[in-house]
Amino acid sequence: MAEQGSLVIPQPVAIVVGASSGIGAALARELAVQGWRVILIARRADALQRVAEDITRRVGPDRAFPRPMDARAYDQIPQVYQEVLREHGRLDAVIYSAGVLHPVAPDEYNFAKDREMLEVNLVAAVAWLGQAAALFQQLGQGHIVGISSVAGDRGRVANPAYHASKAGLTTYLESLRNRLSRRGVHVLTVKPGFVRTPMLEQAQPKRVFWVISPEQAARDIVNAMRKGKQVIYTPARWRWLMLLIQHIPSVLFRRLSF
Ligand SMILES: NC(=O)c1ccc[n+]([C@@H]2O[C@H](COP(=O)([O-])OP(=O)(O)OC[C@H]3O[C@@H](n4cnc5c(N)ncnc54)[C@H](OP(=O)(O)O)[C@@H]3O)[C@@H](O)[C@H]2O)c1
Repeated sequence: MAEQGSLVIPQPVAIVVGASSGIGAALARELAVQGWRVILIARRADALQRVAEDITRRVGPDRAFPRPMDARAYDQIPQVYQEVLREHGRLDAVIYSAGVLHPVAPDEYNFAKDREMLEVNLVAAVAWLGQAAALFQQLGQGHIVGISSVAGDRGRVANPAYHASKAGLTTYLESLRNRLSRRGVHVLTVKPGFVRTPMLEQAQPKRVFWVISPEQAARDIVNAMRKGKQVIYTPARWRWLMLLIQHIPSVLFRRLSF
């Protein structure tokens, strides 16, 4: 396992996986504005470069570092952590925002789509965040942040594998928190509602409401990191709606078509 290097950099350093678009890109910008260095991970090198250039324009050079790769390149993940520690001397947060939502018809069961959603949304999250857990428990500090979803709170008819991937991520993060809070490590679970990003446009759900910008979601997430919160909904009012939805008995929930 890699260790913090001896080089001392004043700014805290975060890895953001899924930083080329939407919530991850907005989070990288917000962290940079608040004084962090950000390592930007996603597949599209050109999109990562644009996010990095935007950060440089806003806060100056040496704050954003694109590292194009597929989040599922599991063998490369330990190497990325080692590179970050070698080149920046520290690592303070790992944020997993990468995600895929393939639209599926109500009678469709497509393993290729389901597999990609489970791999990107859950298996790769475990690969990245497990590595962070091993490092941060040694250090006795650090933030682990996972972008889950309200979609993980109940198994709706809409998209079984997407709901399962988010339920799995929510439970994984809870387990990490229960292991690591006693070791000084902060674990934050984020459950966005509807956020105006390419994913929402592509999914085209029938009914959207309380839609927020990725910038608002990013501000909520960075505030929650600062305050050491455990689970947040963004916007916050989703907590009450999901509490209600979680308590609908299965026999009634089955008859709902959303
Ligand atoms: N938008 C919403 O309403 C909403 C609501 C609840 C939860 N969420 C969750 O929020 C997270 C961010 O979603 P978003 O709305 O910001 O979507 P988005 O704009 O489509 O961004 C998705 C990000 O995931 C990255 N990604 C996808 N597959 C990847 C892979 N194999 N390897 C590396 N990176 C990959 C994409 O980068 P590349 O394509 O460049 O690889 C992109 O940066 C997701 O986990 C999503 O499930 C979104």
